[in-house]
Amino acid sequence: MINKYLQETEKALVKNCDLYFYDDSQVNQAARYSLLNAGKRVRAMLIYLTADMCGMDWTRYKDLACAVEMVHCYSLIHDDLPCMDNDDMRRGKPSCHKAFPENIALLAGDALIGCGIETVVNSNDFNETEKVQAIKDICAAIGPKGMIYGQELDLKFETEKANKEQLAKIHRNKTGQLISLCGKLGSIGCNLTKEQTEAINVFFANTGLVFQIVDDILDVEGNQEELGKPIGSDAENGKSTFISLYGLEDSKIQVKELTQQSNDLLYSYFGDKSSQIIEYTKKLSERKK
Ligand code: IPE
Ligand code: IPE
Ligand code: MG
Ligand code: MG
Ligand code: MG
Repeated sequence: MINKYLQETEKALVKNCDLYFYDDSQVNQAARYSLLNAGKRVRAMLIYLTADMCGMDWTRYKDLACAVEMVHCYSLIHDDLPCMDNDDMRRGKPSCHKAFPENIALLAGDALIGCGIETVVNSNDFNETEKVQAIKDICAAIGPKGMIYGQELDLKFETEKANKEQLAKIHRNKTGQLISLCGKLGSIGCNLTKEQTEAINVFFANTGLVFQIVDDILDVEGNQEELGKPIGSDAENGKSTFISLYGLEDSKIQVKELTQQSNDLLYSYFGDKSSQIIEYTKKLSERKK
């Protein structure tokens, strides 16, 4: 099923670029360059797997999945800029600002936010109330009390050493917010109990945190070719990471424990219906790229 999800996501992203960009625009080229054919599409997969777990037809969630992949791609383009992490490689190719002028890369990132939101606005798969809810959730997740706040803290704690609470706050915001968004969007229109909704929230909060801990681990011991982005970037920038605070071994233990805990929790509320998403997040926690 994952392969089908991936193929459909790629097709939908191409369609979106065709729809929202001028053919002859360099910003269009830069956005397509960064967006198409390379990402793992983790966030799209998480939306489909959530919808599937909740008994919904996943194809209905394509616009939401595309919207999140577009805003995620914007965050990567900006994250790599010289004024941010200053990284030259992304998704196995030169970063957007290395393949295109820096000002064009900046605009391509900006454009992907608007296009992501527009994708939800123009969706025929949800009613107006559901779409407003989705847009509210997206804006909150990427906004100044969400991902942007995480990125702000991430920069602040380059020069200052974050303590445990501060580090958890960075990770829960810069990465966790967008991952948690996937749980919210993947369950839009589903009739869940309050307890099931809460279980999804906790599961995704943990999954987001684990996702960034693994990202920190791979920045230390990943393979650059396989990873498609530079390793050692965090240390070079003096970032506060799980490795700098807890060390590699302890970070790996936390990944295992958190994954087990949140998978058990989800299973206790959704039973066998959660087996696909549990299998997927287990693989994510062991990923090499
Ligand atoms: C990288 O995200 C940035 C983080 C939030 C850790 P991904 O690892 O999902 O990157 P792509 O989309 O597969 O390139
Ligand atoms: C990324 O964190 C967070 C966002 C893009 C919002 P990182 O800076 O660790 O991501 P990579 O390692 O560059 O992909
Ligand atoms: Mg960063
Ligand atoms: Mg980075
Ligand atoms: Mg990283």
